Amino acid sequence: MSTVANLARLECISGDAAYPIGPDPIYQCKNPHELGANLLDVIYDFPKKLDPEKLKVIWRKRRMLDNPLDASGVWRFRELLPFVDEESSIVTLGEGNTRFLQSFESAKYVSLPRLYFKHQGDNPTGSFKDPGMSGAITQAKILGVKAVACASTGNTSASMAAYAKRAGILPIVFIPEGQISYGKLSQALDFGALTLQIEGDFDKAMELVMQIMPEIGVYIVNSINPFRIEGQKTIVAELLEQMEWQVPDRIVVPGGNLGHASSIWKGLRELKTLGFIKKYPKITVVQARGADPLYRGVISGNPDNMAIVEDARTLATAIKIGKPVSYRKALDGVRATNGWVTEVSEQQIADAKAIIGRDGIGAEPASAVTVAGLKRIVEEGTDEVFDREERVVAILTGNMLKDPDYPVAYHSGKLHEGSTTKSIVSKDGPKIKSTFGNKPMRVPADPNVIKNIILQKIAV
Ligand code: F0G
Repeated sequence: MSTVANLARLECISGDAAYPIGPDPIYQCKNPHELGANLLDVIYDFPKKLDPEKLKVIWRKRRMLDNPLDASGVWRFRELLPFVDEESSIVTLGEGNTRFLQSFESAKYVSLPRLYFKHQGDNPTGSFKDPGMSGAITQAKILGVKAVACASTGNTSASMAAYAKRAGILPIVFIPEGQISYGKLSQALDFGALTLQIEGDFDKAMELVMQIMPEIGVYIVNSINPFRIEGQKTIVAELLEQMEWQVPDRIVVPGGNLGHASSIWKGLRELKTLGFIKKYPKITVVQARGADPLYRGVISGNPDNMAIVEDARTLATAIKIGKPVSYRKALDGVRATNGWVTEVSEQQIADAKAIIGRDGIGAEPASAVTVAGLKRIVEEGTDEVFDREERVVAILTGNMLKDPDYPVAYHSGKLHEGSTTKSIVSKDGPKIKSTFGNKPMRVPADPNVIKNIILQKIAV
């Protein structure tokens, strides 16, 4: 009979219902609620004997070990994930343990001397989705499902495909046709996912997944699935460990479907309840201007009413979402931590991405909204809102190589806004200035000419 898993149950975020875990999947509270207020959390009765100081030592020691569970940046924190009875159920590809880096160029750009990056693009499939997927596919294995599905702007599908295949489960991905980068599409294909390109946007794909999958017994692993949030929340423990458990003043994340902000909030909440930390960093969410339902909700003065964005638009395709499923959880996190929400233009995203590059750090466009958003907050913010001495951590969510067309177009002066076509270099929107452009040069195969070019550059 179950031991640790008896500690866990699902609870509605509105606090009016609790459900046992399994055998049938459940994603939303059965009681009527306002849009998005029916999401579920995995809630645990953690054992009283959990000693934060001892666990900090154990977690760090595990990092030195080679066995797959200890080497995983999710499962070495397994005391925070007591929904798994049998370690053999765990599906891992060695996720987590990503770099924590001080920023220099971006710090100057945003006028924040104490800016750091946590690079989640270091994960096995190149994005922050992997820790969460390790959690969700582990639960899929426990439930014994045959197939899993997600709607995706690319990274979730790549991650799900890899983890599901690893577990011998069929991955089914719903992607908006022509709106995800080839880097991500190629991953879903190579990992053997049944790949359905939907005529429509991400929000349509999400709607179809929610409509069809429960009817045919396929397990949904979008962030509406609370076990995704469980895996993803361990990023907070890992980050705090890298910061010697000194809580930063602010954590900045891009906002798309808003699962990421939700998982950071869940992680922080639990670590505070368990006595690992005494205060919260301010959760700060940045959205792209054409895909900013949370921002619009907040400035409307009535954020509880999601301001759905029909026909969301941005070249940062990963966050091209107008009706995020985890809106409510993310909003709770921003509110409870006295955080902030802002949005940024395509030009601001593109320039911030180039500046992050000058730090020697690659990230995909969606990740760059963090730096762009910080610049905006610092420039607009009063001292009450923002203290320039804050220690700020920006989470970079995806590897730069996920979307190489974008920087090539930017640096070559060929990036256009508002593109609705497949190609990022289409000319159907206003041109984005390559403010920090670094154009490749065509040179003749002549040693003297090349020598002169290099010497001139060195002399500058
Ligand atoms: N950054 C990247 C690189 C992403 O892929 C996503 C989301 C986000 C940020 C936003 O995170 O959705 O948790 O608010 N990508 C999803 C996907 C939607 O399907 O890959 P979020």
